[in-house]
Amino acid sequence: MATVDKNRVIIFDTTLRDGEQALQQSLSAKQKLQIALTLEQLGVDVIEAGFPISSPGDLQSVREIAQALKTSTACGLSRALDKDIDACYEAFKGIDHYRIHTFIATSDIHVHDKLKKSFDDIVEMAVHAVKRARNYTDDVEFSCEDAGRTPIDHLCRMVESAIAAGATTVNIPDTVGYTLPYEFGGIIKTLYNRVPNIDKAIISVHCHNDLGMATANSLSAVMEGARQIECTVNGLGERAGNTSLEEVVMSMKLRQEYMKGVYTNIVSENIARASQVVSGITNEPVPSHKAIVGSNAFAHSSGIHQDGVLKNKSTYEILTPQSVGFKENNMHMTARSGRHMIKAVLEKLGYKEGSYDLDDLYKRFLKLADKKGQVFDYDLEALLFLSHEQEEDSQFELDNLMVLAGGKNVIPTATVRLKIGKRTRTESGTGNGPVDAVFNCICRLTGFKIKLDNFVIAAKGSGMNAQGQVDVDVIYEDRHYHGKGLSTDVIESSALALISACNSIYRAQIIENEKQEKENA
Ligand code: KIV
Ligand code: ZN
Repeated sequence: MATVDKNRVIIFDTTLRDGEQALQQSLSAKQKLQIALTLEQLGVDVIEAGFPISSPGDLQSVREIAQALKTSTACGLSRALDKDIDACYEAFKGIDHYRIHTFIATSDIHVHDKLKKSFDDIVEMAVHAVKRARNYTDDVEFSCEDAGRTPIDHLCRMVESAIAAGATTVNIPDTVGYTLPYEFGGIIKTLYNRVPNIDKAIISVHCHNDLGMATANSLSAVMEGARQIECTVNGLGERAGNTSLEEVVMSMKLRQEYMKGVYTNIVSENIARASQVVSGITNEPVPSHKAIVGSNAFAHSSGIHQDGVLKNKSTYEILTPQSVGFKENNMHMTARSGRHMIKAVLEKLGYKEGSYDLDDLYKRFLKLADKKGQVFDYDLEALLFLSHEQEEDSQFELDNLMVLAGGKNVIPTATVRLKIGKRTRTESGTGNGPVDAVFNCICRLTGFKIKLDNFVIAAKGSGMNAQGQVDVDVIYEDRHYHGKGLSTDVIESSALALISACNSIYRAQIIENEKQEKENA
């Protein structure tokens, strides 16, 4: 066994194997390679690149990844079968260093009901598989599938036999995410107490998140001596997913003292990027509230929290967004934001305290926040400059919308009628799709040459009552504007979102004109 610092926890990433097998659509070899290279930059020690026996395409992709990796070790999965192990060798032939990961189930239910074998047969198969893999490489991992539900005497016997056969890493998976942290840590502790040759291998854990315990279980195992965690970026994986890489890595980093000084080689500043790459390629959105990498993970919404963070970030922030590679934290201006928050945002925009009436502004801000949900910096600026009367009005309002969505040989066409100030105007036009057709009409009606930077659609509510919320980010004359629209009809939501962005542009223009007039006066 290669000597590794006893406090170092090896990060084994299985995004490309356990994560990928849970996706609706499999990834192309090119996409997998891009993820593998991102994981390498992140500092992952072992990258499980795939399951070579599963298809010639997977074998080829594992080979390409292994050839491309420079610092991370490539690993291939195999059942405890000769043909699987040989397929791994086929993928890795010619590579200097690689790992073969072989597994077989050890719990009673899997041994008897799935494999229809006796436990003695299983031990024999495992020993044979490990020995065969050792003929190819000196880096062999053996996993006891469903270890979390395996009788402890059987587990001890299996771990001892696999190590004696030459396994250099023995993995203890909680395959069905059934155990609780104290219990799972207890299994690792018992293995250390009862398996005589345990010091000859690294003990690894692989937890699934069915009860939301994957991170806690993995950390509990590390506290008892496990020194490899198997995990995935964003927690992707079968059913409720695997242990999330970013959660275990940042927990160990932040709570190093409590965790008896353990550490990993992960470059934490690359976490946000890895999360975005994986989410983008797999088409699996990261929930906004996801620990460490969710878009709200460093956003503060309540007035009390915002006030605290403005005085001292550590009041409500245990990690900095920069430590995982996000640029800065976000303050969401909503009806729950307090005066301190408003003052701080204005200060950032260059408005000195005393140059405006904070009490009056705050009252108007609350009214706007109730109406809009979220308020952006340009809205706040608009409140400063517009009179009470002006701020109530929207320059553009949707009066009527008719859309021919499209179909075979049909060009998507829209007719939009807007109230513009005191007048009403109508435009008709076509587009690549119905939303594009609507947007083209709105741009002509408002006269704004807008570049659409981002378009996000999300269901709000559930079932028949759900509404479609559209958020657009547009660029107009080098400045970003945001608009939101909510309706049961997503085309109407899209129109409303763009119109709300146009209203913000219009207000910004008035402010700009007023500034100019003052300067010229
Ligand atoms: O969950 C599991 O048990 C696995 C093994 C193949 C390690 O993914
Ligand atoms: Zn798994």
